[in-house]
Amino acid sequence: MKDISTIVEMKAACWQVQLNAKVLGFVPTMGALHEGHLSLVRASKSRCDVTVVSIFVNPLQFGPSEDLAKYPRTLDRDARLLEELGVDLLFVPGVEEMYPRDAKTFVQVEELSNKLDGASRPGHFRGVATVVAKLFEIVRPDYAFFGQKDAAQVAVLRKMVSDLNFDVELVVCPIVRERDGLAMSSRNAYLTPEQRQQALVLHRSLMRVQAAVDAGERDAATLIAIGKQAIAEEPGTRLDYFAIVDPDTLDPLPDVSRAALVAVAVYVGATRLIDNIALTTTQRSP
Ligand code: PAJ
Repeated sequence: MKDISTIVEMKAACWQVQLNAKVLGFVPTMGALHEGHLSLVRASKSRCDVTVVSIFVNPLQFGPSEDLAKYPRTLDRDARLLEELGVDLLFVPGVEEMYPRDAKTFVQVEELSNKLDGASRPGHFRGVATVVAKLFEIVRPDYAFFGQKDAAQVAVLRKMVSDLNFDVELVVCPIVRERDGLAMSSRNAYLTPEQRQQALVLHRSLMRVQAAVDAGERDAATLIAIGKQAIAEEPGTRLDYFAIVDPDTLDPLPDVSRAALVAVAVYVGATRLIDNIALTTTQRSP
């Protein structure tokens, strides 16, 4: 695995891959890698000739009161895991490399960026879209791999790719969970053992909604009430949002008679966690 920290060198290495007509897969991450990230790497390895991973804790997507400084950084371990999986190129740029001090250009996906996590984290998706646009320009991948875990991020990036005519296909991979259902997240590292138990409420709330849908309930307001009730029953947690939305526009849906995303964000202590399930139209009618 080649370890690269400058944009010039990264562009040259990726250009070489394209020249050889190899299919290039790209997995952008912020590091502190877990099985969720590694599932994206495996997906890229199985579909592409060459796999590039980036590790960059992107300051632009953190709000002023968020966890940028304490975000877990485990670069040596991450590099070892990626090497073991057979990653070809690892891009780890510094902040000054990605953001020259006089940068004035940002990517803003209007409307979508203010929904779900964007509503609670102003500026977050501007930071995500800007860094991913820059990374796409540097790497020029054929495929880029993202997790369904961050469903709103997927919607924002899909729109960006379409609006800006990026020549890349986004591949969205399923959420990888711990055995007890907790969605894997780098932020799970912040949880105390007690909070780790409380965090199960996200998955539980989604499972209750799924069970209600399976039993024939279709009304979004009723389903949201069921989900919120599950969260309210868990002390030590605070609801940020519980929403049923169109997976592409992130607009609220009145019912789940067509494809719907059920998304939840909850503070467990000071740690904000997210999770979601996709409901498909194949569910049986009442
Ligand atoms: P990060 O949180 O490190 O996540 C990197 C990728 O891993 C994202 O596509 C995310 O959805 C995926 N991922 C995280 N947990 C997952 C899980 N449990 N199952 C499946 N996939 C999972 O998302 C970011 O970084 C950043 O916003 C980034 C896109 C790198 C831009 O800075």
